[in-house]
Amino acid sequence: MQIVILPTAANAEHLAARIVADRLKAKPDLVLGCATGRTMEGIYDRLVAIAATERLDFSAVHTFNLDEYVGLAPSDPRSYHHYMTERLFSRVGLARERTHLPNGVATDLQAECADYEARIKAVGGIDLQLLGLGSTGHIGFNEPLSSLTSRTRPKVLAPGTREQNAEAFGGDPASVPARALTMGVGTILEAHEVLLIVTGAHKADILATAAEGPVTSLVSATALQFHPRCHVLVDEAAAARLQEREYYEWTVRHEPAWERYANLLD
Ligand code: GLP
Repeated sequence: MQIVILPTAANAEHLAARIVADRLKAKPDLVLGCATGRTMEGIYDRLVAIAATERLDFSAVHTFNLDEYVGLAPSDPRSYHHYMTERLFSRVGLARERTHLPNGVATDLQAECADYEARIKAVGGIDLQLLGLGSTGHIGFNEPLSSLTSRTRPKVLAPGTREQNAEAFGGDPASVPARALTMGVGTILEAHEVLLIVTGAHKADILATAAEGPVTSLVSATALQFHPRCHVLVDEAAAARLQEREYYEWTVRHEPAWERYANLLD
């Protein structure tokens, strides 16, 4: 795991978008793992801007989203299907058949999840997975006690998660669906590269737990400590509770892989 501390959330979003753009240039048929939530909004805005100025070609790209609410149809404005269409897919010309999200209104949810795993496998796995960090320390919707080897499946949402995500549901946590389909922790760990983006003072404690705490299924993001190629982009506010920040800054300064991003680091 490499933690990269940036001055502001905008810097972290910019670097994340830059990395996606670079991976796409290096591999035009990139398989991009997408996340939703507020953190991703700025990243997709940046990526759309870079795509326009640098004429990025998304025609051979596949995307796979982490999760979708059970019971929300793709056309529902509160669904992640809708979020992704509005914030990324329609803005970079991504053809619908190349974008994948679990279907939250499938009649057989278990079969839908198995099919989702098969679709990921069929394209050779996810090259780059974007992740946000939930207030409970979840990745995707892998709530506390999710098996660290879990696969895509239906999952009951924790009360804290429903509160965190209530904004899109008129501010009422009770209106947030009680379940979602989510990639498992094991699914996420198989992505070839992972980019976790964490910003804001409200994430400082859970980030320190996720990155520096012991691995536990109570905080599914701690499983990322097993991932051989996981980068964590954080702003100063979210970095406030990290114990070893000087070490992280030292390693970034001396790691050749980050040299090309030097102008974006501060
Ligand atoms: C949601 C999503 C996650 C997302 C996380 C963080 O619950 N299922 O994929 O990364 O919350 O959201 P935010 O960026 O709004 O803090």
